[in-house]
Amino acid sequence: MDLKTYLSSRRTIPSAHLSGPGPDQQQCNDILTLASRTPDHGKLAPWRFILVTGTERQALSDFCVARQKAIAQDEGRTLTEAEIDKTATTFTKAPLIVVLVSTAVEHPKIPLWEQELAAGAVGMNLLHASNALGFSAQWLSAWMAYDPKVCAKLGLTGTERIAGFFHIGTPQEGPVERARPDVSDITTHWST
Ligand SMILES: Cc1cc2nc3c(=O)[nH]c(=O)nc-3n(C[C@H](O)[C@H](O)[C@H](O)COP(=O)(O)O)c2cc1C
Repeated sequence: MDLKTYLSSRRTIPSAHLSGPGPDQQQCNDILTLASRTPDHGKLAPWRFILVTGTERQALSDFCVARQKAIAQDEGRTLTEAEIDKTATTFTKAPLIVVLVSTAVEHPKIPLWEQELAAGAVGMNLLHASNALGFSAQWLSAWMAYDPKVCAKLGLTGTERIAGFFHIGTPQEGPVERARPDVSDITTHWST
């Protein structure tokens, strides 16, 4: 498939429809290497990856269930079975979860915003690289990405932030088209 055809047909397949096989160690390394080939002002590489595989996916899901219960208790409400089930299986479908972490810190020349944009570009490249190796990936955040205790459990420190959980595996279903913006609605010609 040529690049234009790929870009005009590429779509995310939901993580619920991803399963094994996932990337082996070499393929995973290739995906992360391709994803890191990203525009990056100042060559700061303000991102890092955390891999969650095997039984650790269930362990992370279980930790999130415990957190969700604690948060609900603080709010004086009880979780439904459906809410618990959803979280308990969040990380268990796709065989590989790549946690993309923004490691942006204040810099004398490169604004934080630009560092965070670079991490975002790595995120898009993670989707492309996964596709290039014959897999599929979904970029998810959900509440877990913003929960300080989940972040600490994953080993984030200081001002590090989760840019996304990338669920990578083999699709069990084809993509469904999704509405896209009409660029004429969002494009103007600047004139003096
Ligand atoms: C930063 C970020 C976080 C996202 N988090 C979620 C999420 O938590 N839940 C969800 O359903 N979709 C989330 N999405 C959206 C999907 O991953 C994806 O954008 C959507 O399915 C369409 O993707 P496509 O253009 O590759 O088909 C997120 C997207 C981005 C960029």
